[in-house]
Amino acid sequence: MILHHVIESQQFTVPLLLELFDRARIMERVVAKGGTLDYQHKIMATLFYQPSTRTRISFEAAMHRLGGRVCSTEEAKTFSSEVEGEQLEDTIRIISGYTDVIVLRHMEMGGAARAAAVSSVPVINAGDGSGGQHPTQALLDLYTIFRERRTLDGLTIAMVGELDRGRTVRSLAYLLSKFDRVKMYFVSPPEVQMRHDILEHLEERDVWFAQETEIDTVIDAVDVVYVTQIRPGRMQEREKIQKYFMDASVLKKMKPDAMIMHPLPRTLELDKAVDHDPRAFYFQQATNGLYVRMALLTMVLD
Ligand code: CP
Repeated sequence: MILHHVIESQQFTVPLLLELFDRARIMERVVAKGGTLDYQHKIMATLFYQPSTRTRISFEAAMHRLGGRVCSTEEAKTFSSEVEGEQLEDTIRIISGYTDVIVLRHMEMGGAARAAAVSSVPVINAGDGSGGQHPTQALLDLYTIFRERRTLDGLTIAMVGELDRGRTVRSLAYLLSKFDRVKMYFVSPPEVQMRHDILEHLEERDVWFAQETEIDTVIDAVDVVYVTQIRPGRMQEREKIQKYFMDASVLKKMKPDAMIMHPLPRTLELDKAVDHDPRAFYFQQATNGLYVRMALLTMVLD
């Protein structure tokens, strides 16, 4: 199947997702053998206007494991010609003349789409703006669940935290809406609830969802708890956000085979005491990012 730019989750079909998952499984075996040289003539540019640990390093490691080469600007706001006022479109036109694929994290919603509109090579959205999307994170999230449960149909998930600006949960909701009998609980303080564009999309697709303000009302019913940050700066009163924290007391109420996920980085919302619970999947989730991004690169470069 043909895949060119990767801009938003909505563009993926179920067959395309299943092909990606098949390839990611193969990439697990490729990495176990130390990698391949199959893409040694390909060059990837990573252009990051916002900080990143997982996304940038896993994309770069993915390209190295595939035998390809990497050109990187990890602080593009400072170390690219943006400092001199160069527009994103010009930057992309130039870099697409040098490389075979561009991985872009941009501070503005729609940054990746602007880049794709002028690029002669595939552009992969590595996160755009606050409240935009982070489709490759959602792909690895989905792969992590699929790998464990072998299906995504019938999944019940709670997404918890600052949902209005959370680009990971936004992308994940779009992807999950493609599967049958999925139920989504959006658990957040009322001030930062999931935005209407997602809720309207789910209504259009007849996907079951509910907005909740308490974890306790849903925690014993869900297969996946997907925890995200609530930045203290947005919610001044700590006691208001504390009830969204995942700690040992919440673990007791969860299903024995549930999964705890988090895109990371974490702050206070995910206690280190949870790390030792067999239901904690967030480090495996981050590792899966390598396999999924390798698979994605093969799909856009083939
Ligand atoms: N999950 C995620 O996007 O992490 P980074 O910001 O470290 O890339």
